[in-house]
Amino acid sequence: MKFKKPRGTSDLFGEKIELWLGIEGILTGVMKRYGYTEIRTPIFETTDLFIRAVGEGTDIVTKEMYTFTDKKGRSLTLRPENTAPVMRAFLENGMHRRGGITRFYYTGPMFRYDRPQAGRYRQFHQIGAEAIGSADPAVDAEIIDLSLALYRALGFTQLDVRINSVGCPICRSGYKKVLLKHLREFENDLCGACSERSIINPLRIFDCKECGEVKKRLPVITEHLCDECASHFGKLRNLLDDVGITYTLDPLLVRGLDYYTKTAFEIVHPGVGAQNALCGGGRYDGLAEDCGGDSLPAVGFSAGMERLIEALPAETAAALHGSTVEVYVVLLDGLLAGRALILARKLREAGLSVTVDFSGRNIKKQFKGASESGALYAAVLGPEEEARGSVTVKDLRTGEQEDVTFDRLGAYFSREREGKLRWPRE
Ligand code: HAM
Repeated sequence: MKFKKPRGTSDLFGEKIELWLGIEGILTGVMKRYGYTEIRTPIFETTDLFIRAVGEGTDIVTKEMYTFTDKKGRSLTLRPENTAPVMRAFLENGMHRRGGITRFYYTGPMFRYDRPQAGRYRQFHQIGAEAIGSADPAVDAEIIDLSLALYRALGFTQLDVRINSVGCPICRSGYKKVLLKHLREFENDLCGACSERSIINPLRIFDCKECGEVKKRLPVITEHLCDECASHFGKLRNLLDDVGITYTLDPLLVRGLDYYTKTAFEIVHPGVGAQNALCGGGRYDGLAEDCGGDSLPAVGFSAGMERLIEALPAETAAALHGSTVEVYVVLLDGLLAGRALILARKLREAGLSVTVDFSGRNIKKQFKGASESGALYAAVLGPEEEARGSVTVKDLRTGEQEDVTFDRLGAYFSREREGKLRWPRE
């Protein structure tokens, strides 16, 4: 084979895609129950959008964007994240004029040229939510509650919510001066990247994996918040306490994107190694203005699908696996293909997923195919069954067999389905 998939990407098929779709179905169900509706934006946007929104000094913009020039010489970038595109779409479509809070969710691929490792890929997928139009800390609390609800719906238990406030441009400018003064003291202890980026945005040092020792000795932003930011953070913490969400205060949490103001949060999972942030988000009250719109407060988060699946509780994975092909028709005589097609259509019309084995191989091999497909039932159709006007249905999990007449088939499986084919948490 001459061609290989690009590094840091994956092909999804078979059981993996089934698991993926099952999870997506559960998660989008939660989003809808919280009043969030779907938005789909282009996979690529003008490069400037990400430079303005994510920030010039960030790793994403300086190192990780897939940027290309189209035939007319325009610079375009495969989206490395989706908050900026959602805000762009919101403003471009005049949604800011309708007032109130607009709640969107999205799922889809994002692209970052990062060093691939477990939990970190070049094409990865996020499910995320953005609530645009309110400065109220209650919406921050709703977003954190929603992000936890996604994981709860999938059976996660041991999660740690880490929260911080990164302030606003007013308190941050004072804090940056204090920070720069301290950073000059540690000039020789900083890594190359941090010495450079501390000039553009000194807060980026908190995002550096190498400068851990220096980070611990620096003053923290929460001690330099202005009254408004401090009050917002206090109200959010009270709300989280009121609704019983436990959290850890993490004054070193700044996140890798520059658009955040006030609340920043991450959900981490202790069992997932170095890339342990399952999801991250926060408030970004300045982004609408940075995109050329009016001032518009907003808050949101995104969860990485790959990390979520890698950390998925085993019992959830087991419950979601293997229910694609519900009925596998074992066809013992090619002359009965027409009958098989009619029966399969009846079952499909009754909502079942059906595969007919037209291979002509022997019964043993067809049964092997049935179990490999993950089917729950085999329906055997041969000359004897045709003569009786029935098929032999075998429950592939229990081995029980039953003769079911052609006209009863649809009703038979509908009844079976009610009891056995439902995902318990739905
Ligand atoms: P982020 O922290 O860059 O935030 O990404 C959110 C999540 O996407 C991470 O917690 C992680 O699970 C996943 N993720 C990020 N990079 C990779 C990668 N290279 N491979 C696999 N998974 C990855 C954002 O993207 C913001 N847009 C979140 C947000 C929404 N803030 C406000 N609204």
